[in-house]
Amino acid sequence: MIVLDPPDVLVNHAALARIPGLIQPREPLSVHRRLPGYAPTPLIGCPDLAAELGVGALWVKDESARLGLPAFKMLGAAYACYRVLTERLGHDVEWSTIDELAAAFAPLGRLTFSAGTDGNHGRAVARMARLLGMHAVIYMPDNIPQARIDAIAAEGAEVVVIAGGYDAAVEESARLASDTCIVLSDTAWPGYADIPAWVTEGYSTIFGEAEHQLAQAGAGRPDVVVIPVGVGALAAAAITHFKAADGPGAHLLGVEPESARCVMESLRAGHPVVLPFPQTSIMAGLNSGTPSHLAWPLLERGLDAMVAVSDEWAVAAMRSLAAAGVIAGETGAAALAGLQAICADPAGAPVRAALGLGRRSRVLVLCTEGVTDGAAWARITGYPVPDAALPEPTAGGNA
Ligand SMILES: Cc1ncc(COP(=O)(O)O)c(C=O)c1O
Repeated sequence: MIVLDPPDVLVNHAALARIPGLIQPREPLSVHRRLPGYAPTPLIGCPDLAAELGVGALWVKDESARLGLPAFKMLGAAYACYRVLTERLGHDVEWSTIDELAAAFAPLGRLTFSAGTDGNHGRAVARMARLLGMHAVIYMPDNIPQARIDAIAAEGAEVVVIAGGYDAAVEESARLASDTCIVLSDTAWPGYADIPAWVTEGYSTIFGEAEHQLAQAGAGRPDVVVIPVGVGALAAAAITHFKAADGPGAHLLGVEPESARCVMESLRAGHPVVLPFPQTSIMAGLNSGTPSHLAWPLLERGLDAMVAVSDEWAVAAMRSLAAAGVIAGETGAAALAGLQAICADPAGAPVRAALGLGRRSRVLVLCTEGVTDGAAWARITGYPVPDAALPEPTAGGNA
């Protein structure tokens, strides 16, 4: 078992087993099913990893290829685009293909979508804009690898690179709001919540699929679910799924990079905390300094524990996932990194106790992103560069 820097841990004593008033969204899956390339992502059983960590069973929900992109983010962006454009149109639309959907929205004219991103959400918004014949302006921080910027530009979007990190990129993108420009953010702030709420609802597909896949395999329900946390929108979707009155129930562990632990510090403080810029983890998708205003009330009552890990834990988790046949990038490996840290390090004991984690536990771990840098992945894992890391055709295609 690996031994690295002790993780920072927090047990959230205010967490509830069930949260009153939560409703599981049903519509997003029916929208996703009609998008090009929809298929449930794999749920991979990892018995060797389970044995190594001393838990009963471990599954990885592998979001490294989702709706033609290398992360889960299309689920949120696509559903939010669909909902906001339907509202603008003022009536429901009949459609079964993306071209029919684009035709139904054509009377709205060529609108612009704007978003701030450290990569995945912005690429998904740009992809939706392209599929629907709209325009996209995507703001990105200047510390993002060029490949991520190029991937968004290849979707046909205008990319604006700015100083100041993810939070500043979101702020800049929000300034473009107008009658012809829709701000499509995955994070919320006071006065701006509808679209991020739809983004979060869109993520529900991951958990619905996982539950179905586990049932089909006769594997029962997970007792512990491990989720990587940036602004907390994905964690909010997990909380809504598992902790709704009619949800399956589970203990939820959130994982952050130690340099971007805004949700952990907020839970410690009892109110949302903004971390000073910069956030510098190699788990780039989690480099946010501010929890989502919309997610916060759920995170506060829904996350049972948090762990913050150094980048070395992410590197070790990439190796473990590669050995288990899961090709994960740095951010994609974050959730397993957090689980490994609380299992391997004595500092994890209070969290293990709070989660009831032990030899009989069934654990579901999210892997939210594939490889972002093939050469780095090969160097870290010792495996050859995977096909997934090769540049994919984008503009003009319908992947
Ligand atoms: C690959 C990946 N995983 C996890 C997350 C975390 O999601 P959230 O910001 O909703 O907490 C992100 C956010 O951008 C991401 O890109």
